[in-house]
Amino acid sequence: MKVLIIGSGGREHALAWKARMSSRVKELYCAPGNAGMAEIGTCIDLPAEDVNALTAFSVNRGIDLVVVGPEQPLAEGIVDRMIEQNIPVFGPTAAAAKLESSKVFSKEFLYRFGIPTAAFDICASFDQALMAARKREGRCAVKADGLAAGKGVIVCREMHSAVSAIQKIIRDREFGEAGSRVVVEDLLEGQEASIMAICDGDHYILLDSSQDHKALNEGDKGPNTGGMGAYSPAPLVNPYMMRKIREKIIAPALNGMNELGCPFKGVLYAGIMIQDRNPSVLEFNVRFGDPETQPVLMRLETDLIDLIEAAITGKLHKFPGIKWVPGSAVCVVLVSGGYPGSYRKGLPITGLESIGERDDLKVFMAGVKKTGNHYLTSGGRVLGVTARGNSIRKALDLAYQSIRGIHFDDCYYRRDIGWQAVERNR
Ligand code: AMP
Ligand code: GLY
Repeated sequence: MKVLIIGSGGREHALAWKARMSSRVKELYCAPGNAGMAEIGTCIDLPAEDVNALTAFSVNRGIDLVVVGPEQPLAEGIVDRMIEQNIPVFGPTAAAAKLESSKVFSKEFLYRFGIPTAAFDICASFDQALMAARKREGRCAVKADGLAAGKGVIVCREMHSAVSAIQKIIRDREFGEAGSRVVVEDLLEGQEASIMAICDGDHYILLDSSQDHKALNEGDKGPNTGGMGAYSPAPLVNPYMMRKIREKIIAPALNGMNELGCPFKGVLYAGIMIQDRNPSVLEFNVRFGDPETQPVLMRLETDLIDLIEAAITGKLHKFPGIKWVPGSAVCVVLVSGGYPGSYRKGLPITGLESIGERDDLKVFMAGVKKTGNHYLTSGGRVLGVTARGNSIRKALDLAYQSIRGIHFDDCYYRRDIGWQAVERNR
C-alpha cells in the first residue's frame, strides 16, 4: 500500500511513524514532511496547502491512502478533490470541516443540536461585540470566526482586555478576513480535556482521552502556543465522564452533521471544559490534535492503517475495537526561545542519537531541518520528546531524563507537563 501523509509537524511525524509500523504500508510519502519523516519515508516538496498539486501527485503516484494532518487543506477542500479522483482519503470534506473553519458555524451547530457549550453572541461589528462583552462584564472568550493558526481565541477576564481583543480582531483585522465576525461567549471555568473520535459518517470510535498544555509557561501562564506538551490518558476523564461525552457531545454531533447533509468522516476532536462534572464544548477541530496525537499514538497498539481504512469504508461498527498499551504517555515540546513570538532558526541540535531505538521513547520532530549530517532548528516548536510508562510519573521521568541529553541554543520547555494528572492520581 502507498500512503501519503500531509503536513510537517510533530503530529505528522507521529502519524508517519505509526503508519510505518503497519506491515501493509510498502511506500510512505510525506508532503512536505520534515527531517524526522525523511528518515522513515520519502518527502515530497509540496506545501500542505497546495491542494491541486497534492491531488495530482496522488493520482500520478497511485497513492492508496491519504491522511491529512493540518486544518488548512481540509478547509480548502483537499478531501473533496481527492474523492473526485477516487483517491481514498481520511478527513472531512470542506463542508464538514466548517466545524473548525468557522466558529460561527460551529456555535450555531452546537446550539441547534443541543450540545452543551458556552452561551454566545455572534457579532459582525465592533459595537455589537463591545455590547456582548459588556453584558459579560468583560469575562468572556473573544473568537475570530475563521482559521487563525490557533491564535484567534482571546480569553478575557476584564473589560479592558475584551476591548483590546475585539479591536485586534474586528478593527485591526489581525487575522484578516477570519476576523470579519467574532463570537463573544461566556467564560467557562474548570478543567480541559481533548477527546478525539475516529468517524466514518455514521459510527465512531473514541481514542483515549488526552490533555494538552497550550500556555507557554509553567502553571499554565503566559501566552497561548500551538501546544507545549500533552499526556494521555487524562485521569479527569473517567469512564463516567467518557460516557457523558459520548452521549451529549460526540453522538449528537455526528447525527447533526448527517441531518445537515454533510456526514462527518475523519477525526472529530472536541476540546472540552469539565465543570462540576459537566462537559461543554470549547471548540471542535476536524483533525488529529497536535501535540495530543504524539502521546495517544505512543499508546495505540492497534494498526492505525486498519483503523483509518475502516473509517473510510464506513465499517467502524465492525471494527474489533482499539487496543491500548496500559499506562500513560507524555509529550514534552522543546521550542525555540522567543516562540510564539520571533525566534532564531538554523541552530544546531545535538544529542538526538543519545535517545536510541526503544519502544517507550521517541523524539517526534517538528521544526527541524537536516543539512548533511546535522540537524538544525527551523521552526518554533522543534521537538516533541514522547515517553511511555506504567504511570504518568514514570513516563514523565523518562521524558525529562531524555531531554537532558538534547541541546540547542535558546531551547525552552515547560518542566510541569502532566502536573494535573500527577496531582489527581496522588
Ligand atoms: P479554542 O481554539 O476555541 O479551543 O480556544 C483555545 C483555548 O481558549 C481553549 O483551549 C481554552 O483554554 C480557551 N477557551 C476557549 N473558549 C473558552 C471559554 N468559553 N471559556 C474559557 N476558556 C476558553
Ligand atoms: N492541541 C490543540 C490543537 O491541535 O488544536
